Amino acid sequence: MTTVHWAPAKKLKGSVRPPADKSISHRAAILGAMAAEPVRVRNYLHAEDTTSTLKAVQALGALVTIEGDLVTIRGTGLRNAQVPDSPIDVGNAGTLMRLLPGWLAGQEGNAYTLDGDSSIRRRPVDRIAEPLRAMGATIDATDDRLPPFTVTGAHLKAITYDLPVASAQVKSCVLLAGMLADGATTVVEPAPSRDHTERMLAAAGVTVHRNGLHVTVTNVDELVLDDLTVPGDPSSAAFLIAAGVLVGGSRVKVVGSGTNWTRTGFHRIVERMGGIIIGELEDAPGDGVVGTEPIGDLEVAHGPLTGTTVTPDEVPLAIDELPLVALLGCFAEGETIVTGAHELRLKESDRIATVVDGLNALGGDLEATEDGFVVRGTGGLKGGTIHSHGDHRLAMLGAIAGLASDDGVTVEGMEAAEVSYPAFAEDIGSLIGG
Ligand code: S3P
Repeated sequence: MTTVHWAPAKKLKGSVRPPADKSISHRAAILGAMAAEPVRVRNYLHAEDTTSTLKAVQALGALVTIEGDLVTIRGTGLRNAQVPDSPIDVGNAGTLMRLLPGWLAGQEGNAYTLDGDSSIRRRPVDRIAEPLRAMGATIDATDDRLPPFTVTGAHLKAITYDLPVASAQVKSCVLLAGMLADGATTVVEPAPSRDHTERMLAAAGVTVHRNGLHVTVTNVDELVLDDLTVPGDPSSAAFLIAAGVLVGGSRVKVVGSGTNWTRTGFHRIVERMGGIIIGELEDAPGDGVVGTEPIGDLEVAHGPLTGTTVTPDEVPLAIDELPLVALLGCFAEGETIVTGAHELRLKESDRIATVVDGLNALGGDLEATEDGFVVRGTGGLKGGTIHSHGDHRLAMLGAIAGLASDDGVTVEGMEAAEVSYPAFAEDIGSLIGG
């Protein structure tokens, strides 16, 4: 385990290109493996989670070559995934665990077992088992809801599925299975969630249509993807933004980050709290599906913060950034309230418990609720020690808290950042010295 002390920073200055988008990289590798022709992916994320995805698709028969910035995936085609000799190891990657079964469910008669690390083994898969069973596949899970689990493929039939919670992972799983099912498959979302799968499918010429909260995909014979370039990850960039907003006198530029509206809920929350974000480009949501990902640069400056209320509809648009909203809330005047975020309990750690306990140990005043938290802003944080619980976002949260704190923060388990942001310490270092 790596322990790192993050001392208070004077002011942060400089420009950082955040690492490649994790969600989009997972999708590029999986769709690449499903494709009939080789797919070239530029700026693929080389981090633990997305390396698990490359290994998984290799185990299924895809050929992967890495040359500098370019990853080339030679897929097996839609209906020819091989059966590996041993279980597919998803490591810590929930997105891999929930998306891949959508493809595997359509491999008639083949059985695939998926397993992962101790954190993955407490993350539910019943949410994907339910729609995949309705489409005709067989799913055998531990205690009927947990990994390890086995997917046995079948000739799938199309369904209309009402998502019980807004989850891009479950939506994507059903859409992938939908491409292999007879007829048109529709997913109905309770609220919009990230739409990277829809965009990538649209770019591949698949008929995928959005009408309000309904997303429909139709059966295809083969998938042919154009070459892809992965934008910077707004969820990783969010740590840089929070640092710039919290540390007095800072001016931080974030270059080449994705600005897809379904990922930038955090920007809107930060601005509402009084943080300064300049030059942000966003695409607006609408019916139909646009096959590309928007990208932009933004600049962040320190500003006095006030508390805010994050509504349930905003939650899916900022789900991975809510720990940072809690941190900003500690530095704000007044209360910051998050509701409708029960999903946080099912992430790499129970993020309601780990964030509330972690920030309270640093001098914050937070209260956990069943589906969120209440932060009473005290204008700052004293500092202390926080444990990552093996959760990458908690490790990086501790680091940013340290930069903005009075006494600094020691993070135990800092290596967890490797899951999504291997160059995190280097990038923060460049801003401190900037
Ligand atoms: C993701 C969707 C979200 C998010 C996760 C990545 C994705 O999960 O928390 O980090 O790539 O689709 P849910 O779909 O379960 O909300």
